[in-house]
Amino acid sequence: MTEAQRERRRARRRRQIRRQRLLLAAFLLGLVLLVVLLVSRCGKGDPAGPDTSAQTSSETEALPDGWERRETTEADLARGTLVLVNRDYGYDPEESRTVSIYERKSENYLARGIDIGLREDAMEALNRWMDDFAAESGETNVNVVAGWRSYDEQAALYEDAVETEGQAYADAYLALPGHSEHHTGLAVDLDTYDMTDGSSGGFDGGGVYTWAVEHAWEYGFIQRYPPQKSDITGINYESWHFRYVGLPHAYVMQRENLCLEEYIDYLRGYPFAGEHLRVTCLGRSYELYFCPKDQLIVPSGGGCTVSGNNVDGYIVTVERPGTGG
Ligand code: DAL
Ligand code: ZN
Repeated sequence: MTEAQRERRRARRRRQIRRQRLLLAAFLLGLVLLVVLLVSRCGKGDPAGPDTSAQTSSETEALPDGWERRETTEADLARGTLVLVNRDYGYDPEESRTVSIYERKSENYLARGIDIGLREDAMEALNRWMDDFAAESGETNVNVVAGWRSYDEQAALYEDAVETEGQAYADAYLALPGHSEHHTGLAVDLDTYDMTDGSSGGFDGGGVYTWAVEHAWEYGFIQRYPPQKSDITGINYESWHFRYVGLPHAYVMQRENLCLEEYIDYLRGYPFAGEHLRVTCLGRSYELYFCPKDQLIVPSGGGCTVSGNNVDGYIVTVERPGTGG
């Protein structure tokens, strides 16, 4: 092989090595680009997977200024003065805490025994109602003969009514155990007491007692089983059974002629996100709205009353400064 031939061979070899190096560099560059791409995709997650930010958006959605969410438990649904208890919605008597009416009452009415209990938030209203009735009528003989009842007491009353009056009567006037609003500690049965012979008479709401019935709402009480609503309440007219719901609820119920079943439904028409119900009664102004369970929204920092409806949500009552009237 001549020197010229050897030189051409060396030059070919050098070109070959340069090509191999270029190929290797291009391969390494491609590899680096691939790794960078994969790492960046892992960081962003799989775009075809579930959009978790969308799943929680309703919980994290911003509320208007001045409002906040409040955590609730299932038990909260059965707390408050607006719990609905009837054939469809039961109530655990052990949930209620009561005080003795006999021990806490004013001198203007009677209580049959020391064991007749009422929830403390209704006690002060009952005293004012009976005091004003006595001042108006001169009568101090209204006798509270029933308040909170246990499951067993209600069962005994129901069975006794079936035996003595028959099934139809029992179903018309007595709730099944576990379904009486006496379990809530927010209901009382009234009677009248004859001071001269010690006999008891029924409270029929007539005569001098008309005032007590007509003004009950001013103290937050309602006649729970009115004559025209038996098909809705499932119970015949009971002139003697009063239930504390508080204000302004008792006022709206009498103004709109609604029994409790109807009122609970009526309030669903005022959701937090819609128009709120604005009420003025006895010189105070209120704003009311409904929240489904698990979505309770209240004014920031409190300043409201919340009641579960014992069905599906909460009624929030906010007292607002107003002109009253
Ligand atoms: N008398 C009412 C309906 C009750 O038994 O609870
Ligand atoms: Zn009753």
